[in-house]
Amino acid sequence: MLFDSHAHLTDERFDDDRDDVIERAKSEKISGIINAGACMKSSAASIALANRHPFIYAAVGIHPHDAKDAVEADYAQMEDWLRQEKKVIAVGEIGLDYYYDFSPKEVQKEVFLRQLQLAKKNDRPVIIHNRDSHGDMMEILRREAKGMQGVLHCFSGGLEMARELLKMGFYLSVAGPLTYKNAAVLPEVVKEIPLERLLIETDCPYLTPQPHRGKRNEPAYVRYVAEKIAEIKGKTWQEVASVTRENTLRLFRIAAK
Ligand code: NI
Repeated sequence: MLFDSHAHLTDERFDDDRDDVIERAKSEKISGIINAGACMKSSAASIALANRHPFIYAAVGIHPHDAKDAVEADYAQMEDWLRQEKKVIAVGEIGLDYYYDFSPKEVQKEVFLRQLQLAKKNDRPVIIHNRDSHGDMMEILRREAKGMQGVLHCFSGGLEMARELLKMGFYLSVAGPLTYKNAAVLPEVVKEIPLERLLIETDCPYLTPQPHRGKRNEPAYVRYVAEKIAEIKGKTWQEVASVTRENTLRLFRIAAK
């Protein structure tokens, strides 16, 4: 049984065959999927999707790319969702992205901070996006994330950063790039980090693992990530699937089915 801890099934690239993709996930033994929000519209869509499928859960949040569009009323709306919608299990994805810089850095930091505080106030874990922003990310988490729980999705930092995040109580999630030939630092991090602190994800439709790289990604492909972790750690992929699934259930406080 596998759990895809981060997907974007509400993306328009699934508009033509979303139900088929979800059925394929089920037949490939995907026992759960967390569908991450990236803006208010995709967060609402994420909740609607989760409410239609028992094994899909929703996270609501504003991605750093969309931080520039955040308005005050969005925080109240997210809080209503966190309190009223049973399938909403986390705030995400939220964070910083200095690679694309689609929103000004100061705006990204402010919107990230507001959502961290929202998660803390409502006692929910966070799903964090971090790209080319390690310094500011760690500075904000050291200051603001005491006692919080969450995951760094598609982890892209080094071993030292990984160890500090683990000490803070965070989990690290690994996606398709682990399977790429040019993966340099990530295999080392995966090797050194206890399996009990790793999650697996697709981040579909993005980051398609080998051997399907270049095509659209989907939850059924999360198995390739589990297989690569198993190879690195000298375990079976079934063991990796089982432990990472338990980790996901524990972090997001999802009752096992
Ligand atoms: Ni994502």
